[in-house]
This record gives sequence, structure tokens and C-alpha cells, in this order.
Amino acid sequence: MIVTVDGPVAAGKGTLARRLAEDLGFAHLDTGMIYRAVGLKVLRAGGDPADEAASLTAAKALQPQDLAMEGLRDEATGFAASAVGGIPSVRAALLDYQRNFAAHPPGAGKGAVLDGRDAGTVVCPDAPAKLFVTARAEVRAHRRWLELSRRGERISEAEVLADLRERDRKDTERTVAPLKPAADAHLLDTSDLDIDAAFRAARAFVAGRLGL
Ligand code: C5P
Repeated sequence: MIVTVDGPVAAGKGTLARRLAEDLGFAHLDTGMIYRAVGLKVLRAGGDPADEAASLTAAKALQPQDLAMEGLRDEATGFAASAVGGIPSVRAALLDYQRNFAAHPPGAGKGAVLDGRDAGTVVCPDAPAKLFVTARAEVRAHRRWLELSRRGERISEAEVLADLRERDRKDTERTVAPLKPAADAHLLDTSDLDIDAAFRAARAFVAGRLGL
């Protein structure tokens, strides 16, 4: 049983995916962390994440423990992730890791929740329950700014909004696996919902699809 949760930056998909996984007893994979880990490894090696050779080498060498590196959630790492995510060969190299997780979820193994940009369109096109979570850009920027500020990053809300629009643009316009809802995805706009209300809506949809 596979649940996919896709959407743009800071729409709330990570929190929703985590809560769904906990509630259902499924394993959870935040696929953004995979792209972030590759981007960060390239940065730390002094390379350019937009360079195909450097990013492909890092992608092929990716280890599960890399997904726990410090600095993965930093704003600079998000940009590096966006750069590596635009390289088709890197995306192809990271597909197996994601599909393997979905097919053989670690832990109790009843199912898996994958969140990202293309979980429902490319990684698991046959998943029975797909959510596409979105929210207005200003709302997402505010949430992201709160998260970064809490972690001590000094950045203005206007800068976060500009960064987010830029990352949205890159993710949506790229030719390989662009950010878009799967044809059979359920759209969930969380702009005016708190996390509990968003979770209830997501849970109801998923339970219906999985026959729970
Ligand atoms: O979701 P998160 O903000 O952590 O993702 C960071 C970046 O990694 C995204 O902006 C996107 O460019 C890239 N990414 C991707 N495909 C995924 C997940 C993330 O290209 N499945």
C-alpha cells in the first residue's frame, strides 16, 4: 500500500506525510532529503550542484546515513537540491532507491508514504492514494520563515518568499519530472487549514482510497 504526497515548497506535505505514516503504521520517505543530501555532498566537496558529473557521482554513492547529515534543511541546501534535481541522469540514478523503499518499506512493512515532487507522477505512478498538497505562496513563505527563524537562520520573510517563488519556478518549469499533480491526485489546499484540519482531510481521503 503506497501513499504519495507531492507539492511545492512548504505546502505542509512533509508534516502531513509524517503524520499519515504514523497513523497508518507505514514507513515514511521524505524524498526531498535524498536530493538535499546529494546537493550537500557536492557543496561540501567544493563542487557545483549544477554540474552533472559531480552530482551523478554523489547520487550513485548515496548511503542511507547521508539522509541524516547536518545542514540538510538549510536554505542553501534547498537550492543545491533544486539544482541537482534538474539533472535527468541524477533523477534516474535516485529512482531505484525510492522505488525500493516503496516496494520494501522498512520496519513493520505494511506500506509506505513517500513525499516529494514526483512521487505520484514518476516514482510510484500506480500508487492507489495520491495527494497533491498546495497553499498560497505568501502562506508557504510565512511557514517556511517561521521554521527557519526557529532554527536560528537570519533571513527576512520577503527573501524567503523570493527564494520560494524561484524554487517553485525551477521545479515547475524543468523538463524532467516537473512539479505537477498526477491526473488521479486529490488536491488539498492547506492555505486556510491548520495542520489538524489538513491531516483530517488527508486521512479521510487516504482511508477511502485504501479501503481502511
Ligand atoms: O521538499 P524539499 O524542499 O526538501 O526539496 C528540496 C528540492 O529538492 C526541491 O526544491 C526540488 O527541486 C528537489 N526535489 C526534487 N524531487 C523530489 C524532491 C525534491 O526534485 N522528489
